[in-house]
Amino acid sequence: MISFSKRTNYLSDSPTLQLNDRIASLKDQGRDIINLTVGEPNFYEPEQASEAAIEAINTHFTHYTNSSGILPLRQNICEKLLIENGLEYAPGQITVSTGGKQALYNTLAVLVNEGDEIILPTPAWPSYEAQIRLVGGVPHFIQLDETTKFKLTPKLLEAAISKKSKILMLNSPSNPTGATYSKGELEELAPIIEKHELIVISDEIYERLVYEMEFVSIATLSEYLKENTIVINGFSKAFGMTGWRVGYSAAPKVIAKQIAAFQSQITASVSSVSQKAAEQAILNFDSSHVDRLKFCQDSLITDIRQTELDLRIIPDGSFYLFPNIKPVLSKTYFGKIINSDLDFCSLLLDKVGLAITPGSFFNAPNNVRISYAKSLEEIQEAGKRLRSFFSGAEA
Ligand SMILES: Cc1ncc(COP(=O)(O)O)c(C=O)c1O
Repeated sequence: MISFSKRTNYLSDSPTLQLNDRIASLKDQGRDIINLTVGEPNFYEPEQASEAAIEAINTHFTHYTNSSGILPLRQNICEKLLIENGLEYAPGQITVSTGGKQALYNTLAVLVNEGDEIILPTPAWPSYEAQIRLVGGVPHFIQLDETTKFKLTPKLLEAAISKKSKILMLNSPSNPTGATYSKGELEELAPIIEKHELIVISDEIYERLVYEMEFVSIATLSEYLKENTIVINGFSKAFGMTGWRVGYSAAPKVIAKQIAAFQSQITASVSSVSQKAAEQAILNFDSSHVDRLKFCQDSLITDIRQTELDLRIIPDGSFYLFPNIKPVLSKTYFGKIINSDLDFCSLLLDKVGLAITPGSFFNAPNNVRISYAKSLEEIQEAGKRLRSFFSGAEA
């Protein structure tokens, strides 16, 4: 009998994979399914990025690169961080990684010792908990809900801090809630973070997908926060480049050095071709994507509000809505009692061919996550199906 390492014993079959298998099997049976479970946009890399990648292949820019990333890409990242976020970094502080996911894992791996507590506001992207446990850390969840608009407050943060607390995980805009912290909200958290000498991992991967408010990085708020925050970002969400696998961390010098050393032993450089693509992509962000996402958000909100789902919070960023399903629980639809978010999502998929993600995947069983990073036509059709579910009409 093979015995696995204690750290990986925690891993189980991802519920997301199981859901995707179910969607795929329904599609194989010829069902017309609208899939709003996905965490990726429906747009693609900028043309300049694909051209640069093709050129990289044609000119054999296809060998190892510096394991932290090619200099021009890191320079472009520094320029972006300075101009758009007001954050000054040197290229040596940037590590280009295999997606934001690896940037995050690198950071946790170099900072966390067995038993260190990482404060994790939740509902949260499931990989945070998995990665924290994989490096031997202990997630300390702060359960958030609609009452604070899914945002951490000074009181909630203070109450969660113990002697073992080392890191605060912040994700703004958030997956799955879309909650985006204003400068004022971050300023209220800053003194507590400083008082308890916490390190902040600030996952800013949805930062460009913000509507009608300005994105602020917590690292800009004070000298302490600049020196104790690791900014995580990447190309997957804003540039539709999920498959290119490019992300990065921007960190204080000493931490960046350790991250670079760690990555050099694990994966070394990201694909040279992807790096060339990213180098151009970052110069060519298409803000019309944000306008289109807003249209989709508005359309879906209008439809959701005609159903029994409770959508009190309109998120300021990312591409997810996170309505509350309490009004639906214990009720009967199509002859079935809905006892959980899983029941609801399953029946919705069966009856009207609409796939959404149960909130329990994110520690929020009273909610569901609906991704609207699709064409407006698909979102309108999804809205129609959602309304038809509540009027009792099968698709
Ligand atoms: C909150 C959050 N952070 C990081 C990532 C990582 O993205 P990638 O590894 O594709 O850059 C994701 C992807 O779903 C995410 O939702």
